[in-house]
Amino acid sequence: MYRTKAYLLLLVWGCATGVWGITNNADLIWYEDSGEPHDYLARQPIPEGLITTRKIVVNQKFPILWQVRFAFFDNLETLVIDDCGVNDIKPNTFRDLKPLTNLSLSRNNLRELKEGVFNHVQIKNLNFSSNKISVIAARAFDNMPVLERVVLDFNELRQWSGEWFFNCTNIKTVSITHNFLEELPLKAFRNFWNEEDKEVDVYFSYNKIGRVDPTAFEGAKNFGDLFLDWNDMERINGHALGKLSSIRHLNLNGDSLQCLSEEFMSSVLNKTELLSLRENPLKCECFQELQMRAEKTHTEIEFSQQQTADC
Ligand SMILES: *[C@@H]1O[C@H](CO)[C@@H](O)[C@H](O)[C@H]1NC(C)=O
Ligand SMILES: *[C@@H]1O[C@H](CO)[C@@H](O)[C@H](O)[C@H]1NC(C)=O
Ligand SMILES: *[C@@H]1O[C@H](CO)[C@@H](O)[C@H](O)[C@H]1NC(C)=O
Ligand SMILES: *[C@@H]1O[C@H](CO)[C@@H](O)[C@H](O)[C@H]1NC(C)=O
Repeated sequence: MYRTKAYLLLLVWGCATGVWGITNNADLIWYEDSGEPHDYLARQPIPEGLITTRKIVVNQKFPILWQVRFAFFDNLETLVIDDCGVNDIKPNTFRDLKPLTNLSLSRNNLRELKEGVFNHVQIKNLNFSSNKISVIAARAFDNMPVLERVVLDFNELRQWSGEWFFNCTNIKTVSITHNFLEELPLKAFRNFWNEEDKEVDVYFSYNKIGRVDPTAFEGAKNFGDLFLDWNDMERINGHALGKLSSIRHLNLNGDSLQCLSEEFMSSVLNKTELLSLRENPLKCECFQELQMRAEKTHTEIEFSQQQTADC
């Protein structure tokens, strides 16, 4: 059924004929406000509800996404293009899209996010989980004024870049769990804080991060969740983190920490509400020192039962 050479999600309304019609091959599921789904088959007459729908799920394979003409969907909030076999997205594909709450491109075969695809697009939540993304252009997300959350879980990224999210003034959450990141590079969060009091959540769980550049947290201010659990951290650079204003939850479960530095205990612990240290090979004297310090700073620390029992 699927056109393997299909190059488009070109929803062109039939202006030439004066008829409302999607002239190309996109099968969709659209939803009524009540949540009731309806199938729409390509090239069929447009039912009234489709024009005013809030949610569309593309229900067809599209190896390459070309320009999406969604300019007529005034109420669209959610566009789901999951599991559609997408290999590539051409620049300007989403140019016509009106401000959208959620765009999901999960479970496709994307290997690269190029510049020019998302720049200036008004989307709040972007989900790219379970693709094969190993390359993100330095400017791929620049100038996305309403972007709040990007999910890149289950991809193949080896590098994080502090250049990402330039002029994305509302960015609050980035999740990039289950990738192959090895390092937090210099000024890794330089584009995240324009307003002092914004709280940012970053999830780097299940990567291979072993190195944190001394300048990685330069310019960083308040973290909600800072998750570096199940990485290869043997030490945490207390100087690097010392410059932050606050961390609600620093998660270091499943790393390789034997202890935390004096610098960490004196200048990071007192700005951390909750510190998770389960499944680390902590030495007993370190465990005891930490407990003592944490009492003074009113930091809650989560240890493994084993750690508590052994010391
Ligand atoms: C958009 O996605 C977020 C999760 O990223 C979810 O909490 C929210 O309910 C979704 N909103 C809509 C309108 O689908
Ligand atoms: C992103 O998509 C994945 C796969 O479809 C889903 O499991 C996950 O809940 C989504 N995340 C958010 C924040 O919407
Ligand atoms: C930031 O993005 C906004 C909205 O897209 C744009 O108007 C503005 O010129 C951009 N600022 C910079 C410094 O590029
Ligand atoms: C934490 O301790 C450091 C070093 O003693 C001090 O400079 C800083 O002001 C303290 N921060 C908070 C939030 O108490």
